[in-house]
Amino acid sequence: MKNDRFLRACRREAVDCTPIWLMRQAGRYMPEYRAVRERYGFLDMVKTPELAAEVTMQPIQAFDVDAAIIFADILPPLEGMGLDLTFEKGEGPVIHNPLHTTADIKALRDPDPRETCGYTLDAIRLVKRDLAGRIPLIGFSGAPFTLASYAIEGGSSREFRRTKALMYSQPETWHMLLSRLTKLVSDYLLAQIEVGVDAVQIFDSWAGALAPGDFAEYVLPSVQACVTAAKQAGVPVIYFGTDMNGMLPLLRQSGADVLGADWRVFIDDAWAQMGPGVGIQGNLDPSVLFAPWPEIERRATDILTRVAGRPGHIFNLGHGIMTETPVEHVAQLVEFVHSFAIER
Ligand code: CP3
Repeated sequence: MKNDRFLRACRREAVDCTPIWLMRQAGRYMPEYRAVRERYGFLDMVKTPELAAEVTMQPIQAFDVDAAIIFADILPPLEGMGLDLTFEKGEGPVIHNPLHTTADIKALRDPDPRETCGYTLDAIRLVKRDLAGRIPLIGFSGAPFTLASYAIEGGSSREFRRTKALMYSQPETWHMLLSRLTKLVSDYLLAQIEVGVDAVQIFDSWAGALAPGDFAEYVLPSVQACVTAAKQAGVPVIYFGTDMNGMLPLLRQSGADVLGADWRVFIDDAWAQMGPGVGIQGNLDPSVLFAPWPEIERRATDILTRVAGRPGHIFNLGHGIMTETPVEHVAQLVEFVHSFAIER
C-alpha cells in the first residue's frame, strides 16, 4: 500500500500526518456524481459494478483522501431476506413489506450475500484494480440494530416506536431477528474481506436512540459478534454510531479497533471515556463545511489540537457529508488536515 496512514492509524501506529476520509464522500455534493445520477437510479448505480466503481473513485480523483469507501448502501442486503426496497425521491428509503409480526420475521430468508450482493463484491474487485495499491478500500455494512429499524419501521424514523415496542414486548422475537441479521452482516463483511477490502466499517447510525441499558442488553451482543467475525478475518473494524455520547464505555465493549465519534462531544473527552487501546474517528460537524473557510479551519484545528498527536486518530465528519456541501471546502479541509503538524 503506497499510502497506508489510514491503516496505520487503525492500528494506532505512528503516522506522518493525520489520515482523513469523509463518510458519504461519493455523493450528490459532487458534480461528477450528479452527472452519473442524472442518468441512473440510485439502486441501479449500486447494482451496476462499473458505475459503483466509477463513483467510488470520484472523490479519490478529486481530493487527496487517505481511504476509499465502496459505493453501496446499507439496505440492499435486506432484499435477499425478502424485503422489498426502493428509494423514493425526497423520501429516502422505503421498505414496502415491513416486519410487523413474528410470522413476518420467521418468513425471512437467510441469504448468502455472496449470491445476493454479488454486484457490490464485483464493484470491490474493480475498485481494488483501479486503486492499484494507492490507498486502502473500506467495505461496510449496516449494524443489526440499524438494519432492523429500517426493516420494522419501513423507512427512516425519528422515534423508532415499532422497533422499541418489539424489543420490549417480544424480546424472544427481537433476539431471533437480531441473530438472523448478525449472520447476514457477518457473512456480508467476510465476503467483502475475501474480495479485498482493507478495513470495514459497521454503521449503527440510529443505535443512539436507545437507552444505554437497552443498548447493552438488546444490541451490543450482536455488534460484538459482527466485530469478532470481521476481526478474525484480519482487517481493522470501525464501529460508527451517532448520538451515543452517553454510552461511550459501552461502545468500547464492541471490540472494534476504531470508534466513531459525532460532533456533540469534545473528541478528547470522548476518547478519555472510551479508554486507552482504541482508535477514534471524527468528529467535525458536517454542517461546518458550509461556513467560511476560516471558521472551518478553526474547528478542524480545535479537533487536531485536542487529539494532540495521540496515535489512532482518523479525521472524519461526525456523520455523512451533506448534499450541496461546497466541494472546494472539502478539498481545503483534506489539505489542511494533512498539513497540520503532529506534535508529540
Ligand atoms: O460513504 C460513502 O461514500 C459510501 C456510500 C454510502 C451510501 N450510504 C451512499 C448513499 C454509505 C456508507 C451509506 C450508508 C448508509 N445508508 C447509512 C449509514 C450512514 C448514515 O448516513 O447514517 C444509512 C442510514 C443509509 C440509508 C440511506 N441511504 C438513506 C437514509 C438515504 C437517503 C438519504 C439521502 O442522503 O439521500 C440513502 C441514500 C444514499 N446512500 C445516497 C448515497 C450517495 C443518496 C442517493 C442519491 O443519489 O439520491
